Parts: sequence; structure tokens; C-alpha cells
Amino acid sequence: VRADPVHIRRLFDEARADRARVLEELFQREADVAETVARAALGPGGLDVLLEAGLLQRSGGGVRSLARITRFHGQLIASDRHGFRRHADFVLGPGPSSHALASAVRPISRGRVLDLGCGPGTFALWLARDGVDALGIDINPRAVEFAGFNRRLNGRSGAAFSVGDFLTAPPDPSLDESFDLVVANPPFVLAPTSELTYRDRPLSGDDTTRVAVERVLRAVRPGGRGYIVGSWIDNVGRWDAAPHRWLRGDDVRAALTLISSVSTAEYAASWNRDLSEPARSAATAAWCLALEAEGVTRISTGVIGIQRSARRANAIRARFLRSGAAAGTRT
Ligand SMILES: C[S@@+](CC[C@H](N)C(=O)[O-])C[C@H]1O[C@@H](n2cnc3c(N)ncnc32)[C@H](O)[C@@H]1O
Repeated sequence: VRADPVHIRRLFDEARADRARVLEELFQREADVAETVARAALGPGGLDVLLEAGLLQRSGGGVRSLARITRFHGQLIASDRHGFRRHADFVLGPGPSSHALASAVRPISRGRVLDLGCGPGTFALWLARDGVDALGIDINPRAVEFAGFNRRLNGRSGAAFSVGDFLTAPPDPSLDESFDLVVANPPFVLAPTSELTYRDRPLSGDDTTRVAVERVLRAVRPGGRGYIVGSWIDNVGRWDAAPHRWLRGDDVRAALTLISSVSTAEYAASWNRDLSEPARSAATAAWCLALEAEGVTRISTGVIGIQRSARRANAIRARFLRSGAAAGTRT
């Protein structure tokens, strides 16, 4: 943030209706706004602060945003404009899966938080506070840059971010049993090819969600909690069969929340509805064919919440270290 982050926050915090409307037009609707209108609503200096910060740029007689800015549990989260969402390295801001995950998460008042696939820092920035440090990891360097920007924007000095791979690289032993709270919103969508880093599974079948569960379990210290949002294959007609299989054993307590359980056709249609015709129908048909060729008939999406027992730590480590090592070789 080149301009003083406090000035930017103040603009978003002041409850002036005309200002809120212009900020929404610019940063959520991604519309161009006439410079005179923006200057009148944002007040003396307000427009200049946003231009200086690189959040707005002039275009013709108007101004337009260079980022989307939304609120997530009190934090301002800058991310890519939605118009950019079909680019491979798009940085996704808070969306439906983030909100579904957040509704399961119970924040902590002391300890350490790990946010796997942190994007622009969405969960790490929400969960960091006095007495709670947070680490966010993402494979996309652009996401980590956004996260650093958002850390300064929100004055969350207890959050740190780094580039890393928690799905296709071997597990990082320095993360093992080090966190009181771990969250993961991985790219869980069962797309036929991995084109969009923020969305498409990098592993086959529903292994992305399975490995995310493993990595969360490894990182949670005994007595701590973890939460994962993801999709899994549900061919047997019991939406909770796969998470039950992944969590077999009596050393974790789990709470499962179903978001949807749909046919491959419904799944393919819903993940391609942002395209316009004829691309939408073509992509939906291609997804259906690919999923059917894999033998997938139904897909469930939900939130898996786990609490590790404070006792029996050895049992769970042995179990997940073995399967974690196998997953690490599957790229
Ligand atoms: C669905 S977005 C979640 C963003 C944010 N955490 C949220 O909940 O709104 C998934 C994120 O995972 C990141 N990602 C994808 N593959 C990854 C990998 N192998 N390791 C680490 N991060 C990955 C993407 O770059 C993206 O930011």
C-alpha cells in the first residue's frame, strides 16, 4: 500500500451512503465511475488516496478499480476483479465456499492458525488477533502478494504469508502438530483438466480434498481443530461415505456439513454457469463426458470439521504420516 492504509480503511469505514454506493460500484460491481462523481462522494483527498495506492486508475473521463475489495468478518480483502476469473493465476476473494467454511469455524483467542490455500489472506487475516498468530500458504505468488497488501490494509501484523504447495509437494514436517486451528479451502472442483489454480483439482478423483484433510490433520496439534471445504465422489448414495472413510478411527471427532449433493450434470452446469453461450454448453458437455469416463455419478460438497483428541497423539500421527507420504508422490 503506497498510500497510508489507515486513510484507505477510513474511507471504507465511514457510513456515508453516497460514499458506500460509489465504493460498491467501483470495487464490487467493477463499474467505471465518472471522476467528478467519485471525487464528490469520496471527499477531498479520498479519490487521490485510492489512486495513489494503486487501487484505482483513470480510464477516459472516469475511474475504475484494479482490484475487488470485499469485507470478510470485518477485514477488507482485496483480490482480483471477477472479470479476470478465467485466468490461470486469478486470485479469488471471499466467495460462497469461503462463507460456508467460515460458518463452521470457531475462532481461537490464543495460539497459532494455519490457512492452507490462503488466497488473498482471507482466513488468516480474520483469525489473527492479539495472542493469535496466523500463517497463510498459497502456491500462487500473486495471491501471496495480495495477502501482504491486505495485511497492511487491515493492520494485522500477526499474520504472515508464504508461497508453498500443500497438495502436490511432500508434506512440510515443520508444520506438523504446530497449530491450534487449521483451515483449508483447496482448489477442490472436479474439473476435467487443471486450468484455474484457484478452482481446479490438481490431483485425480477426489484426492485433492482427501489430501487436504490429511494435511490439516498433520498440522493440527493434539486437542486442536481443523476445517476443510471440498468436493468428493458420492457414487454409493451416502453423501458422507468418503469423509467417513478418510477419518476412520476413533482418534478424531468430526462434524460434517453438507452444502450440496448433485449429479455430474448438475455439478458440471453449476461450475460453468459464468461462461456465455455457446462456450457454456460445450464446457458443461465436456465436463460430463470426462466425469462419466471416470465413473463418477454423484458429487457432494461440504465442510469437514475435525477435533484431534488431546490423548492418543501417536496413533493419529502414525496413520497419517503413512498415507501423507504416499500422497506426496502423486503429482
Ligand atoms: C478456493 S481458493 C481459496 C481462497 C481463500 N482461502 C478463501 O477461502 O476464500 C483456493 C486457493 O488455493 C490455492 N492453491 C491451489 N493449489 C495449491 C497448492 N497445491 N498449494 C497451495 N495453495 C494452492 C489457490 O492459489 C487459491 O488461492
